[in-house]
Amino acid sequence: MRRGAIYQLAAFAVIAAAICVAVALLVPWLPVAAGVQAQRIDMVFWVTTGIAIFVFSIVAAVIVYSVWKFRAQPDDDSDGPPIHGHTTLEIAWTAVPAVLVTVIAVISAIVLARNGNAGPDPVKILVTGRQFEWSFTYSNGKTLGYLEIPEHRATELDITAVDVIHGFWVPQLSQKQDAVPGEHNKIVVTPTRLGTFPVVCTELCGLGHSLMRSHVNIVTQAQFASFMKSGGTTTASPGLAVFQQNGCSSCHTFKPAGATGKIGPDLDKLKEYAAQAHQGPLTAFIKESIVNPSAYIQPGFQNLMPKNFAQTIPAPKLAQLVQYLAENAH
Ligand code: CUA
Repeated sequence: MRRGAIYQLAAFAVIAAAICVAVALLVPWLPVAAGVQAQRIDMVFWVTTGIAIFVFSIVAAVIVYSVWKFRAQPDDDSDGPPIHGHTTLEIAWTAVPAVLVTVIAVISAIVLARNGNAGPDPVKILVTGRQFEWSFTYSNGKTLGYLEIPEHRATELDITAVDVIHGFWVPQLSQKQDAVPGEHNKIVVTPTRLGTFPVVCTELCGLGHSLMRSHVNIVTQAQFASFMKSGGTTTASPGLAVFQQNGCSSCHTFKPAGATGKIGPDLDKLKEYAAQAHQGPLTAFIKESIVNPSAYIQPGFQNLMPKNFAQTIPAPKLAQLVQYLAENAH
């Protein structure tokens, strides 16, 4: 091969690689990390992806260039020149990948070890998955339908399930963890920015899988301290607010909310109704009755419930409402 052609090929390959790496790194493909562990995972992901894209681009560019530049001409019936291999090239393409793979392995091992380290005094929260909701039990004994964690402090999530396998995931916190009945899998999260982010289930766990959502509030350490002190009611019963905002009291009676509607079933008797409906856990029955009111109709009542609550009440609010009704039902 002529020296000029080699330089041309090399330039072509490097430009192709640079363009591909730029597209990978400059487009915001991932959600912005909200935790220290997520930042580390993103770093490993991008180092690995960057290397993969760079190598792939060079290989693809060399192939494309060779097919285009060195193809046989229509009138060329001669044999190609005899080629005997190239020792330097072979050593290079063995040694370089070996180094790259070792670098990835070392970085991954360091990140894995550091992400698993909760430090001396983590906040501990028990996360329980069940069809089809998440519940979070705090060290003050309170169990809520949403996760509340402090900024800049390690929280150890102890993740389990009661029925089938679920998957705990907050995209902004990066770490996915299976919730398995009888097992306690732990992850550590150290939030770096305030906000509310979705908690989703990533394991197909049944008909309500797509509805199995909650949310996480990342709050300041002071807010978290008062949240824990007040037994987890600083948010002034968010479920009650959802109940009122959606006009539930105009049709239903529910003493804890001061509601006296008579058009729909009496929500003070939710447990009784759930037993009659033979529908598993109370929370599942309540959620089903809200998002799919035709599923079970309490005898003595007409089915006048709006059928679009699944669309009009955002999933986190719905979880709060279900939690609120379940906690206050008799
Ligand atoms: Cu739980 Cu999907």
